[in-house]
Amino acid sequence: MTRIIQISDTHLVGEGNFVSKTLETAAPLEDLIGRISEIQLEVGAIDAIIISGDISDDGSVESYARFKSILSPLNLPFFAVPGNHDVRSSFRAAFSSAGYLPDSNKLNWHQIVGEVHIIGLDTLIEGQGGGELDSKTLQFLETTLENLNNAPVILMFHHPPFKSGINFMDSIGLHTGQSRLSEILKLYFGELIVVCGHIHRNIVTRLAGHTVISAPSTCSSFLYNVHRNAPVGFLKQAGGLILHDWSQSFKSIRIEAQRGAGPFAF
Ligand SMILES: [Fe+2]
Repeated sequence: MTRIIQISDTHLVGEGNFVSKTLETAAPLEDLIGRISEIQLEVGAIDAIIISGDISDDGSVESYARFKSILSPLNLPFFAVPGNHDVRSSFRAAFSSAGYLPDSNKLNWHQIVGEVHIIGLDTLIEGQGGGELDSKTLQFLETTLENLNNAPVILMFHHPPFKSGINFMDSIGLHTGQSRLSEILKLYFGELIVVCGHIHRNIVTRLAGHTVISAPSTCSSFLYNVHRNAPVGFLKQAGGLILHDWSQSFKSIRIEAQRGAGPFAF
């Protein structure tokens, strides 16, 4: 049994600052860390936290320090990939002491947690909203998977490898590497889930025979409005987290930010 919690798109900024002058992002993350402590009492020990990008909103050194400080009470290992709001150099500097990030180039990595292999890929194109899986990143994925003997895998990167239907987000989606990604995944016959962030919504779909799951954001969401003239912007809505539970197969449970009152007797 291996239990991994995925959080996404925390969009932290420096103390006293707000995202787009209106959204406070540290408080919902602090609340969620409290929930993770409760969850451990309800489901058992958590093995690791994974973060599918946009840890920072502004790429500041302070925002990454704040993230680490907020997560520290959990005392759990955490592994992250960058999103389009992250800055690769600040990200690397903030997390390099954990020992899983390469010293140079893209932030692609492979870790083993319990019975599960976690592969993180870097889709960030600095200065752009959209993302890419470049040829070296895809080569890293292919080589890593070839050596795993069909063991269980969580493959994580920020930009979803599917169209969400939310037009303004799809316009800054995964621009390159999708077809090669599908070819590589088609040849993996073990249990594998692809997990991502970016669209601040929990959507489940399929790709090349595997399940793909986008995680909600800890601080905001986008209206699921598929019209071309849909309003562009975010909702103040803490989306909670996803618990990925491995035991012979994957089970992924969305856990809300608010626990809710009760339970009440029937
Ligand atoms: Fe985001």
